[in-house]
Amino acid sequence: MLQDKDRIFTNVYGFQPWNLSASLKRGDWDNTKALMALGQDTIIDRIKASGLRGRGGAGFPTGTKWSFMPKEPRPDRPNFLVINADESEPGSCKDREIIRHDPHKLIEGALIAGYAMRARAAYIYIRGEYIREAETLFAAVAEAYDKGLLGKNACGSGYDFDVFVHRGAGAYICGEETAMLESLEGKKGQPRLKPPFPAGAGLYGCPTTVNNVESIAVVPTILRRSPEWFASFGAENNKGTKLFQISGHVEKPCVVEEAMSIPFRELIEKHCGGIRGGWDNLLAVIPGGSSVPLVPASQIMDCPMDFDGLRGVGSGLGTAAVIVMDKSTDVVRAISRLSYFYKHESCGQCTPCREGTGWMWRVMERLRTGDADISEIDTLQQVTKQVEGHTICALGDAAAWPIQGLIRHFRPELERRINERNGSSDAPMQEAAE
Ligand code: NAI
Ligand code: SF4
Repeated sequence: MLQDKDRIFTNVYGFQPWNLSASLKRGDWDNTKALMALGQDTIIDRIKASGLRGRGGAGFPTGTKWSFMPKEPRPDRPNFLVINADESEPGSCKDREIIRHDPHKLIEGALIAGYAMRARAAYIYIRGEYIREAETLFAAVAEAYDKGLLGKNACGSGYDFDVFVHRGAGAYICGEETAMLESLEGKKGQPRLKPPFPAGAGLYGCPTTVNNVESIAVVPTILRRSPEWFASFGAENNKGTKLFQISGHVEKPCVVEEAMSIPFRELIEKHCGGIRGGWDNLLAVIPGGSSVPLVPASQIMDCPMDFDGLRGVGSGLGTAAVIVMDKSTDVVRAISRLSYFYKHESCGQCTPCREGTGWMWRVMERLRTGDADISEIDTLQQVTKQVEGHTICALGDAAAWPIQGLIRHFRPELERRINERNGSSDAPMQEAAE
């Protein structure tokens, strides 16, 4: 169980100001020059030793990702760091809290991570809807330049490093790392084929690492407190502390930093005051943001909230956006609404996603109202399998998995609606004008 003294994000609720003078009191920017003096390879080795895995959803080991970057960048082909602050996954709101209340952790992390990867600059790509957060970030970056923490000879380290903040324009797909690179280059935000991964050919064709806000913001503390300290939390292969974002039918929804691998029931009891109406009233949980399958109540209670534990119950940690649904939830409607989201946000570049997301949503709507044939449940399942793994980016998988989870765990509910459909007057949802 995490003690207050072990929290990295001590200002996550904004009880203190976000600004530089308050951040300095919280320990940010404390002799950053000495951390950089550890040397680039040592910093990467320490991040590897901490066991930090990417906090944007995929969980790729952060230190390993950094080590893919060229150690001797060519002058005409510099290395870049891109920080993904395009947090748009339904249920996810942790990066927002970091930027609102602790932006200097992110900016200091950008400098150290950028230095370790021999990057010339960092671009922070922030979601367009985060208007006030972008204002905070612009102001915090300006403060850092004013005090010589960024720019030429950043922190007196002898290293020149710039940070640019770039605002998105409201497209979910621009959170996909290669779509983000296209968008930064001024093009339409559509994902590129991988490989090549960004480390080989990223921003403007140069070696680039794309990291999530939380992954970068924890770096200074890991180096100050030691990789062993960070690795002392969580289960094997699932190390560290993590910001969980708990929404839905709990008594007290919140964003909270906890040790990885905390069991679901403990997380909810400790921080959210339990399930609305008591534990018997829990129906299902989407544990990692809308892209992962839901888990029924019976399987989630004692499940460790980490990458491996949630994979063991057929789901995933994703961004640790925990969406709790009690028995008042129309679970078919909830998943159908997510299907609409993915259909709406598909960039349309590849056929299985462009056609499949609309097709899946329309069948989901008929299933919601019971206005479908019983055979369509299996047909829908087959279509999700034809979308999954057959698209350029993970949006196709993200659209398929919630439906697969629904069919796996709630088939009797789908069948019941079809069998009772003659008594229903509920019409399928019409496509919104776009
Ligand atoms: P991915 O597994 O393809 O890649 C993860 C990272 O590792 C990427 O940066 C990739 O470049 C790198 N990588 C993977 N294999 C590599 C290799 N062989 N060589 C070099 N680099 C390699 O996952 P992806 O598509 O980047 O992210 C999907 C995840 O994003 C989902 O799990 C979902 O939960 C999450 N997501 C998060 C959102 C948010 O708002 N934070 C929004 C939507 C999805
Ligand atoms: Fe675009 Fe969907 Fe293909 Fe991703 S999977 S590239 S969002 S059409």
